[in-house]
Amino acid sequence: MRLRFFLSCILLQLLDLVVHSSSSPLSDRQKRDADFASVRNKLSRDHSGRKGDPPGKYFHESTFHPHYDGRFASIPLPDEDRHKHLRALMRTYLATMTSIGAETWIMHGTLLGWWWNRKIMPWDTDVDVQISESSMRFLADFYNMTMHHFKLPGISMEKGRSYLLEVNPNWRNGSTADTLNMIDARWIDTDTGLYIDITTLRRDTYAEEKGLKGRMMCKDKHHYLAEEIFPLRTSVFEGVEVRIPFMYTRLLEEEYGARSLVNRHFDHYYFNERTMDWEYNGRPGGRRGRPDTDVPGSSPGPPPPREKVLRHAGHQLVEPELTVLGPDDV
Ligand SMILES: *[C@@H]1O[C@H](CO)[C@@H](O)[C@H](O)[C@H]1NC(C)=O
Ligand SMILES: *[C@@H]1O[C@H](CO)[C@@H](O)[C@H](O)[C@H]1NC(C)=O
Repeated sequence: MRLRFFLSCILLQLLDLVVHSSSSPLSDRQKRDADFASVRNKLSRDHSGRKGDPPGKYFHESTFHPHYDGRFASIPLPDEDRHKHLRALMRTYLATMTSIGAETWIMHGTLLGWWWNRKIMPWDTDVDVQISESSMRFLADFYNMTMHHFKLPGISMEKGRSYLLEVNPNWRNGSTADTLNMIDARWIDTDTGLYIDITTLRRDTYAEEKGLKGRMMCKDKHHYLAEEIFPLRTSVFEGVEVRIPFMYTRLLEEEYGARSLVNRHFDHYYFNERTMDWEYNGRPGGRRGRPDTDVPGSSPGPPPPREKVLRHAGHQLVEPELTVLGPDDV
């Protein structure tokens, strides 16, 4: 009952986001090559960094900042604006993948943000997602170079905004030796040039040859056990439906240490358990306000039951037990 209520809340939020959205492939002429001329919208100069890159590299980061696509922007956003555009990227990506039916989930710092309050952490400069091999194949075959249009409350309500899904043709090469093409696809905000890197979780054929079962990897050299990721859980992130890896606590502890799940201080931020938000308490350019040794949860030990805390704070959650999608090709 409760579950159904949660799900309909999410559905409503999704509708709010995508009600005006539609997607369209680029024209055939545009599709042939994703170079500057084919995709540019408002710039007259290419800032893609393409000229400085080695010939085998598919994606080109901008000349002015590694997190921007220079075909769509010539300068980075002001720091204080970046967060809302990153959030819009995340929401539109998740909503689109849910409607396509692609099996994708959040990882790394983005998963840590989910752990704390189901949001992108205010100091994050990018978001991390992974996708199953069969879903990447599906995107490559049917959705490469598609544009997805959204009207975004608070950001771009009148004009709307277009996001480009671009798949690296080298995604099929699963070798970690292909270091120029570790990113398999990108979800690109064609207004700001900000993007999300999408990496495919693959079978680790090298480990399989040695007789090890259920080993998975990404081209960026992260390795996982299939059981750490699958079956995926369903939850909410930034107000939209999201999938998260099965053993999220273990993955986060391995990557960031157990303290990352309990320590309420980070840099100039402090996690307020009452508002369930990270609050900025530093003076710009100054030193951190308080040492983090006075944090009750900072001694090593089991992390607090996050679900309980969030529920206590009145956040609506989807039960993490309900789950769904099985391993891909494992
Ligand atoms: C996606 O389209 C671009 C532009 O046409 C092309 O260069 C690239 O090879 C395509 N990717 C795949 C996976 O086919
Ligand atoms: C994958 O990429 C690496 C590095 O560029 C190359 O040596 C290898 O031959 C490629 N493998 C395939 C199957 O294309």
